[in-house]
Amino acid sequence: MKITVEEAITLLKSGRVIAMPTETVYGLAASIFFPEAIANIFHLKGRPSNNPLIVHLGTAADITLYARDLPQKFELLAEKFWPGPLTIVIPVIEDTIPAIARAGLPTAAFRIPDHALTREVLIKTGPLVMPSANLSGNPSATSVEHVEKDFGSGFSVLDGGECEKGVESTILCWDHDAWVVIRLGALAPEDFAPVLGYVPVVIDATSAHQEKPLCPGQLYRHYAPKAKLELVEKISVNAVEAIVGFSDRTYPEGIRLFSLGSSKDPQSAAHELYAVLRRLDDENIAHAVVDMNFPSQGLWLTLRERLQKAATSL
Ligand code: TXA
Ligand code: MG
Repeated sequence: MKITVEEAITLLKSGRVIAMPTETVYGLAASIFFPEAIANIFHLKGRPSNNPLIVHLGTAADITLYARDLPQKFELLAEKFWPGPLTIVIPVIEDTIPAIARAGLPTAAFRIPDHALTREVLIKTGPLVMPSANLSGNPSATSVEHVEKDFGSGFSVLDGGECEKGVESTILCWDHDAWVVIRLGALAPEDFAPVLGYVPVVIDATSAHQEKPLCPGQLYRHYAPKAKLELVEKISVNAVEAIVGFSDRTYPEGIRLFSLGSSKDPQSAAHELYAVLRRLDDENIAHAVVDMNFPSQGLWLTLRERLQKAATSL
């Protein structure tokens, strides 16, 4: 059910959970001043309680209210990439962000979304936690239709059309003496080099720090349609029901193509990714092959990682 900006503000200020657009994906929003609303987010999504949420702010200046310490070059990162698809994990003054949102960690993740409607709401409501607006494990939602598919047509959604980027924010975390990428996303590791003076290392949160993962969310099944995905470098003739591939390539005849757009355009592939994965289920596809013949740099690396996760059934 679509709601107005005014209704969104009223609902959030009275402790309700709604869905809102961002430039990356839709989020399920609750005010940080209502821990019971935050608990409701975990319940609605079926999200494990040890997977912390991102705190979304309307303005960067607010960060000083929460930060215990701002790591080196934090200001430069914030200045260059906020508002935008960068999430930064920093140590916080613990009683300023409810423990349930942080999953008990001494840190919290922050970002300022680059979306006019949602910033307008944030300025009026104050900080909001916003995980992606999908049931845990499902592909993220990049349209109102996707949100309603997961949470029902009566669920309150602020309509911002299709999300521009289509994949989540990139998460940076200060790890001892350098910034590291703990989740690939809409910004590529290389994008940070001009500000940091180095390309931050991408940490595989599932293997490097198994006992105390840097990014707990990375441990879980993610982005996965019901369809079994088979990732291949070359599509053979005896392939299956459906191909997830590119509009400028030729594939064996008679097999349905679910197109990610041009193989020269990672932005359009990112924009289409979750819609394509969701469409496979809408069309009851049981088995699809995915054309993985694309680069491993920049945004392509994020797409590769998302597809690898989507193909893993844990
Ligand atoms: O683009 C995005 O970031 C979207 C939109 C709605 O803003 N949000 C999003 O939230 O992707 P979610 O909950 O789906 O993913 C948040 C990720 C999880 O993997 C979680 O483990 C990680 O952020 N995270 C949150 N707080 C953290 C912390 N203190 N330390 C490490 N990782 C954290
Ligand atoms: Mg998510």
